[in-house]
Amino acid sequence: MSGKVDLSVDFCGVKFINPFMLSSSPVSNSAEMVARAFEAGWGGVAYKTIVTDRIPIIHPSPRMHGYHYGDKRLVGLQNVEQTSDRGLKANLLDIMYLKKHYPKHVVMASIMGFSNQEWYDLAKAVTDAGADMIELNFSCPHMTVEGSGAKVGQVQELVQKFTETARKASNLPLVAKMTPNITDMNEPAMYAKMGGADGISAINTVRGISEIGLDDWVPRPNVYGKGAISGYSGPAVKPIGLRFIAEMALNEELGLPLSGIGGIETWIDALEYFLVGATTIQVTTGIIHYGYRIVEDMIEGLSDYMVSRGISRVEELVGKALPHLVETDEFDLESQGITNYDLDRCVGCGQCYIVCNDSAGQALEWDEENRRPRLIEDKCLSCMVCSFVCPVEGLITYKPMPKGWKRQETVTLGKELESQLKL
Ligand SMILES: Cc1cc2nc3c(=O)[nH]c(=O)nc-3n(C[C@H](O)[C@H](O)[C@H](O)COP(=O)(O)O)c2cc1C
Repeated sequence: MSGKVDLSVDFCGVKFINPFMLSSSPVSNSAEMVARAFEAGWGGVAYKTIVTDRIPIIHPSPRMHGYHYGDKRLVGLQNVEQTSDRGLKANLLDIMYLKKHYPKHVVMASIMGFSNQEWYDLAKAVTDAGADMIELNFSCPHMTVEGSGAKVGQVQELVQKFTETARKASNLPLVAKMTPNITDMNEPAMYAKMGGADGISAINTVRGISEIGLDDWVPRPNVYGKGAISGYSGPAVKPIGLRFIAEMALNEELGLPLSGIGGIETWIDALEYFLVGATTIQVTTGIIHYGYRIVEDMIEGLSDYMVSRGISRVEELVGKALPHLVETDEFDLESQGITNYDLDRCVGCGQCYIVCNDSAGQALEWDEENRRPRLIEDKCLSCMVCSFVCPVEGLITYKPMPKGWKRQETVTLGKELESQLKL
C-alpha cells in the first residue's frame, strides 16, 4: 500500500509490491545494485541476462553512445552491450542473496542460452538459486555470438522450442522478452505461449543508427574505427513499445499478462503502458539518465493520479485505453473542426503563420501592424501544426464545428489551365 492506494499487482501469479521494475541491463547487473534499487522503492527486477560460462562474453569498448538533440541530453541511447560478462556462479549467488534479503521483492532472472541444452541448464540453475520468475531473452539485437538474441526472436519455431525447454527445466512463471525488430509481435508471442510462456515482456532495443561521426564517418558508438547497427532505447522508442503492448493486449487469443518496456522515465510514461495493457513496467535508459531515485516520483505521481480518479488498484487501469483504440477506418469523418485562437495571449511571433503557409492550408492571414494571425475558417485543415509551434501553451486549441460542416474546396494556382485538363 502507498498512502490511500494499493500499488501491488499480480503478474503471472507473482505478487509485486508495486509494478515498477528494473529492466535487464547494466542497471540490474549485480545484487549490490539491485539491493540499492529495492531500497529506493523499485518493486522488482529483471536481472541482467545470465549466460553459461561456455563462451566468454567480452563487451565492445566503448559499449554505449548517448544521443543528444539540441539542448536535450540523452533523448536516446545506442548500445552494443552483450549479456552479463560476470561468471554464472557470481550471478547465481547474487540472486540467492537478493531472495534471502528481499523476500517481498520480485527477482526475475533473465537468461539466454546459446544452445537448447544451455536454455535448460540456465532455467534450472536460476530456479535452484531461488528466482521468482524467468525472463527468456529472445531479443538482444546485437549479440556477437552466432545464433543468439534477436535472431532467435525472429524465428517462431526457436521461440517455441526454447520456451518448451525452459518449461521442462522449471516450474517458475516464464516471461518471453520480445524483439521490436519485426512487423508483428503477436506471431512470436503466440509461439512463446504454445511453448509454455506465462507472460510477455516488450520491447527490447530497436535496431538503429542514431549518429555518425562527421569527422571519421563511423556510426556510434565508435569501437576502434567500427560501428554497428545496434540497440536504440530511451524516450524516442516509447511509441514503438506502446504500440506492441497494445497490439498484444488486443489479441484475445494470446491473452497473456504483459510487461511494458521502452522509454519510460516518469509515472506518466508508466501509466500509459498500463492503459494499453501492461501490468508491470520495466526501465533502463531512464535510470541511466537520472538514477534509481526516479521511482519515488513514479510511486508518488501514480498514487496521486489514482486518488484523483478514485481508483484504488493499479489493475483497474490496465487496458483502459484499448476500447478507444480503433483502426483508422472506424473514425467518424462526418465530424470536423478547426483551430481556435485566444489572441489576447498572442505574443506576435508569427510562427503559426509560417507553419500554416509552408506545411498546412494557408488558412492564416498576417496582420503586420498588430502582429496577429487571422484565421480563414474554410481553409483550416485542423491539422493543428500551428499549435505545435506556438510558444504559448494552450493559446491555440481545437474547436469542433457543427455536424455536417465542410471545408470549401480551394484551387490555388492552376485555374487558367482548366480547359486543358483531361479527366
Ligand atoms: C546498455 C544496455 C544493455 C542492455 N542489456 C540487456 C540485456 O542484457 N538483456 C535484455 O533483455 N535487455 C537488455 N537491454 C534492453 C533493456 O532491458 C530494455 O529492454 C531497453 O533498453 C528498452 O528500455 P529503455 O528505453 O527503458 O531503456 C539493454 C539495454 C541497454 C541500454
